[in-house]
Formats: sequence, C-alpha cells, structure tokens
Amino acid sequence: MSATPKPSNAAPRRPPERPRTGVYKWFFAWLLSKLQRHYGEEVDKRKKELLGALHGTVVEIGAGAGANLEFYPRDVRILLVEPNAHMRPYLEDAARKHDASFEIRAGTAERMEVADASVDFVVCTLVLCSVDDPEAALQEVVRVLKPGGRFIFLEHVAAAHGTETRKWQRRLRGFWRRICDGCTLDRETWARIEEAGFATCDIEHFEAENIPIAKPHIAGTATKAERAMVEV
Ligand SMILES: C[S@@+](CC[C@H](N)C(=O)[O-])C[C@H]1O[C@@H](n2cnc3c(N)ncnc32)[C@H](O)[C@@H]1O
Repeated sequence: MSATPKPSNAAPRRPPERPRTGVYKWFFAWLLSKLQRHYGEEVDKRKKELLGALHGTVVEIGAGAGANLEFYPRDVRILLVEPNAHMRPYLEDAARKHDASFEIRAGTAERMEVADASVDFVVCTLVLCSVDDPEAALQEVVRVLKPGGRFIFLEHVAAAHGTETRKWQRRLRGFWRRICDGCTLDRETWARIEEAGFATCDIEHFEAENIPIAKPHIAGTATKAERAMVEV
C-alpha cells in the first residue's frame, strides 16, 4: 500500500535558475554603461542630494558602470564592491573621469571584503532588487558601518497590493529576472530595511517619471546605533 503524501505548506519547488555568466554578464555591463545616463532626472536629483554631502570612507555596493561617481564630493574615499568583473573597465574610466579616490573590492553585497565597523557610509542604488539574499546584504551593511554610520539607498520596489502594476510585476517576475540580470520587480525592500536592525530609518516612497513596471521607488537613510543594544 502506498503512503498518502502529507499536505505541505512549503512553496512549490522551482528548478534553480542557471547562473548568469560569460557573454551575458559582458552584455549586461555594456548595456548598463549605455543606459545608466537615461534613468531620469528625478532619480539623478535624489542621488545628488543623498550623495553630495558624504565624507570619510564610503562603501558603494553594486557600483555597476559607475553611475554614482559624479555625485560624490572629491575628498571622499570610495570602496567599490561590484561582482560583475566586466563592469570594471567602465568603473575605472568613470572614477578617473570624475577624479574619484577609489578602490575596487572583491565580494558581493552579501559578503564584502571590508572590515567590521570601518566605514562611515554604505551606498546602494538600484541593487537590492538584484542581490540573491537581501537580508544577508543588509546584515553586511550593518556589520561594516561604524557605530552611528549611515546606509544610503535608492531602490525600485514592489507596487501596492491589488494594483495593476503589482499584478504585472508578479506575472513578469521570472522573465524579468532572466533578462535583467536577476532584477526582481516585486521586492518589499522598505520592509527588509526596517527589519535589519538599524537604530533609525528614514524612508521616502516616490514615483519617478517615465519608468514603467520597475516602480515605485524608495530613497532614504538608515542609521546604525551608536552603541550595541544589550537585551535584558
Ligand atoms: C541596475 S545595476 C545598478 C548600478 C548602479 N548602482 C546604479 O545606480 O546605476 C545593479 C548592479 O548590482 C550588481 N549586483 C548584482 N548582484 C549583486 C550582489 N549580490 N552584490 C553586489 N552587487 C550586485 C550588478 O552587477 C549591477 O552592477
């Protein structure tokens, strides 16, 4: 007699995605270098506001082809963490063009080669949609920030439940991940940031013009506690 399978609440198992490598990564680096200037005025304006007054040592995760380098003050020391090796020539060109003081560090958002409590700011724009494990990435951010250090972010996020945009984000999720290097349209990234253990979070939700489907956006800062909180 065959055993009756037990009902399960687990999500249905999907075949693992094939790793994106080689020509795909090369193409994506080239494409980003061409398209990054066209993301729109609203996003550029906010990046300028968020990055223009930073100081000390900054880690930028998922630096891509260097779209943010023009926004930093000249005296900031920037550690760039970018796992796609094909971005490197574009990043180096952008850093030279903007006279930025930079180092490229190996690793990913989830595991950076950066010492504990060593940096003043971590910057992350349009990246948490693409990392494999956003929770792990945010724990890394908290780890590398000095006490009182700040996480600066700008991301596209899931639309509100029940809207047409959210339904299309759900329908297109798999296809979009394949053609956009793992970018996931319907992540509730604001909630992940709020849960990550920062002392304070200041998150603004906004709509950027002319951006279809990968919207709305959030931007803001989250601050690491000045001293470790002790549970009693
Ligand atoms: C859409 S691009 C954004 C580039 C840039 N930050 C900007 O604002 O234009 C996403 C970037 O995240 C990088 N990325 C993807 N997964 C990552 C991970 N696990 N850790 C760090 N960067 C990652 C990609 O290689 C790519 O450069």
